Amino acid sequence: METNTFDFLEKMERAGCTAFSEAKTLAEFRDLEVQFLGRKSELGLFLKSLALLPPEERHKVGKRANEAKRAITAASQSARARLSEASFDVKSEWIDVTDQPCSLPVGHLHILTTVENEIVDIFRSLGFDVADGPELETEFYNFDALNIPADHPARDMQDTFWIREDTRSSQDPQDHRSARLLLRTHTSPVQVRYMETHTPPFRIIVPGRIFRSEATDASHEHTFYQFESLFVDKSVSVGNFKYVAELFFSRFFGKRIGVRLRPSFFPFVEPGFEFDIACTVCDGKGCSSCHGTGWLEVGGAGMVHQSVFEAAGYERDRWSGFAWGFGTNRLAMMKYKIPDVRLFQSGDLRFLNQF
Ligand code: PHE
Repeated sequence: METNTFDFLEKMERAGCTAFSEAKTLAEFRDLEVQFLGRKSELGLFLKSLALLPPEERHKVGKRANEAKRAITAASQSARARLSEASFDVKSEWIDVTDQPCSLPVGHLHILTTVENEIVDIFRSLGFDVADGPELETEFYNFDALNIPADHPARDMQDTFWIREDTRSSQDPQDHRSARLLLRTHTSPVQVRYMETHTPPFRIIVPGRIFRSEATDASHEHTFYQFESLFVDKSVSVGNFKYVAELFFSRFFGKRIGVRLRPSFFPFVEPGFEFDIACTVCDGKGCSSCHGTGWLEVGGAGMVHQSVFEAAGYERDRWSGFAWGFGTNRLAMMKYKIPDVRLFQSGDLRFLNQF
């Protein structure tokens, strides 16, 4: 029995080693692996059956069987190395590292973000800091602190999205600052928030999203973007405002742009203005974009009302400052000739991909 067994192992070893050394292709090599080294190969089954032998015999035969397996495995490894090297096809493996990459579609910034960044860059270069405030605002900051009491008709100037009372968390009814919640209708509440924690002199801009409960059309949206600007120091004048505004718009449009002020009313400024810029299409000569007037209405402005300083905790008549606000969407529309404000939030890629 033993001699037979050793003969069998001897033969297996020789057959396996020869077969691997003569293999010509990787496919052939893979078949040989199954045939000589697989779990169901003759040698594999033999190794399994060793468990049935008495211990002493198992030890001797097992030793020889493992030797045979090791020899065949070594032959298979050198065959694998030889064949995979031979099968390396330079042509199909060739990579031209200088080739143009195939162009994957890449995302880009939304046009409003780009315009907002441009605006921020210009103001930064003029020494303005960027400030921020919440979109979910209290009645106090959006209205009261800005000199717009509850019964003031100016509240109707900006149709407001109010937040339902029962969605509010528990608040201290004594604290007037935690009054009713709303979606801010302008960025002006950040004036007060900023002044509560900073002492003049300072100059800031506040880019932000605002909300108005309005019917939409080509020039009205319920959700849009604004820029607030606030400059507070000693003896600031309307002249300072006009200078900064002209500088800003000229840089933004890349040509000299005149600014015109018209008396107007906002409760948080005194005096208050609406300001226009010279029509960017006809340079003030009069065209259909400006309805023949030569001017385009851009935003509101004025000297900060002393009551607003007071609401923010400043002493009355100690500081002076100008504030102004304009629509980012509107500015983007002028610069990039966008005919309808609703396009910004349409999600229409035909629109978005133009920029
Ligand atoms: N907050 C005003 C609006 O949204 C604009 C404004 C800002 C007017 C600052 C005056 C001063 O209409």
